[in-house]
Amino acid sequence: MRTRFTEAFGIRHPIVQGGMQWVGRAELAAAVSQAGGLGMITALTQPTPADLAAEIERCRKLTDQPFGVNLTILPAITPPPYDEYRRVIVDSGVTIVETAGSNPEPHMEMFRAHNVKIIHKCTSVRHALKAEAVGVDAVSIDGFECAGHPGEDDIPGLVLIPAATDRLTIPVLASGGFADARGLVAALALGADGINMGSRFMCTVESPIHDKVKQAIVDGDERGTQLIFRQLRNTARVAGNAVSRDVVEILLNGGSFPDIAPLVAGSRGRRVFEDGDLDAGIWTVGLVQGLIHDIPTCASLLDRIVSEASALITGRLAAVVP
Ligand SMILES: Cc1cc2nc3c(=O)[nH]c(=O)nc-3n(C[C@H](O)[C@H](O)[C@H](O)COP(=O)(O)O)c2cc1C
Repeated sequence: MRTRFTEAFGIRHPIVQGGMQWVGRAELAAAVSQAGGLGMITALTQPTPADLAAEIERCRKLTDQPFGVNLTILPAITPPPYDEYRRVIVDSGVTIVETAGSNPEPHMEMFRAHNVKIIHKCTSVRHALKAEAVGVDAVSIDGFECAGHPGEDDIPGLVLIPAATDRLTIPVLASGGFADARGLVAALALGADGINMGSRFMCTVESPIHDKVKQAIVDGDERGTQLIFRQLRNTARVAGNAVSRDVVEILLNGGSFPDIAPLVAGSRGRRVFEDGDLDAGIWTVGLVQGLIHDIPTCASLLDRIVSEASALITGRLAAVVP
C-alpha cells in the first residue's frame, strides 16, 4: 500500500507502532519495522539517556529498516532530563521521532538541524494545526478511543480524523481504536494516510510484556477500560482493575493528586508488565481490546492487515459501486 506517509517516511506499510511506556523496547520496534511498518522505541522507558543510546544500538542489530523514537513530555514532579534524551536521539543517528504530550516547538530546531523527521502525536484539531504550523512532518491524532491520554475533548476518531484531515495539508495518521484491516481502510476513507496502533502491538509475540497481560487483553472486551484523572484534566484511559477503581473513587470523593500518587506510581504499573500481576498497579490499554483476539507475530499481524485491507478495497467496497 502506498500513501503520502509511506512515501515521506520510506516504509512499506502505512502502519505505525506508537510509543508505549514499558512496552516500546528494541525487540518490538525492530519486529514492527522489519515487517514493513514503523516501529518506535519509547525513550523514557530507558532509565537514563545512556540506556536509550544502548537500546537504539540493540534495535539496529535487530533490523536494518527505519525505526523511530518516541519522546513524551508530560507534567512530572521530577522531570527527566529531556534535553539529554533528545541529544542521544540525534547523536545516535535516529531519523524519525514521535513527539507527544506537549507542544513540539522547543524540539524543532535541533531535530531539523539533524534531518530528523517529526511525527507529532496529539488529540485535537487545534493542536494538530499548531504542530503543522511549527513544521512537523506528520501528525498522529489520537481519538477518544485510544489507550493512554485522549485529552479532554472526548471526540472519537470517526469525527476527529476527518475534521482534522479537512484542515491539514501534512500526512495524518489516525490513532486510537485501530487493530485490523477494517480500521485501516476506514482510516484511509476518513482522509488519513495511515494508522498508529498501541494496544494491538502490545498483544504480539515480540511485545516484551508478561503473557498474562496479553491474555487479559485477548480475554477482555471493549467495556474493560476506565478513564482516570478526569478531575485533574489529565485524563488517561487504562485497564479497569482494582487500582483504577480506587483512583476513580478517591478523586470522585474530593481527593487530590497526593491521595492517589502512591496508587498510580509508574513502578507499580511496570510490575504488571513484568510479573503479570494484573492488579499490581495502573496499566494502559484502549477500547480496541474488544477487537483483539489473538497474539500473532508482528510480521503475521502486518501481513494480515495489509492483505485483508487490499481484499476489502478491491472486493466488498468495489462491489458497492458495480
Ligand atoms: C501500554 C501503553 C503505553 C503507552 N505509553 C505511551 C507513551 O509513553 N507515550 C505516548 O505518546 N503514547 C503512549 N501510548 C499511546 C500509544 O502510543 C497510542 O497512541 C495508543 O495506544 C493508540 O490507541 P490504541 O491503543 O487504541 O491503538 C501508550 C499506549 C499503551 C497501550
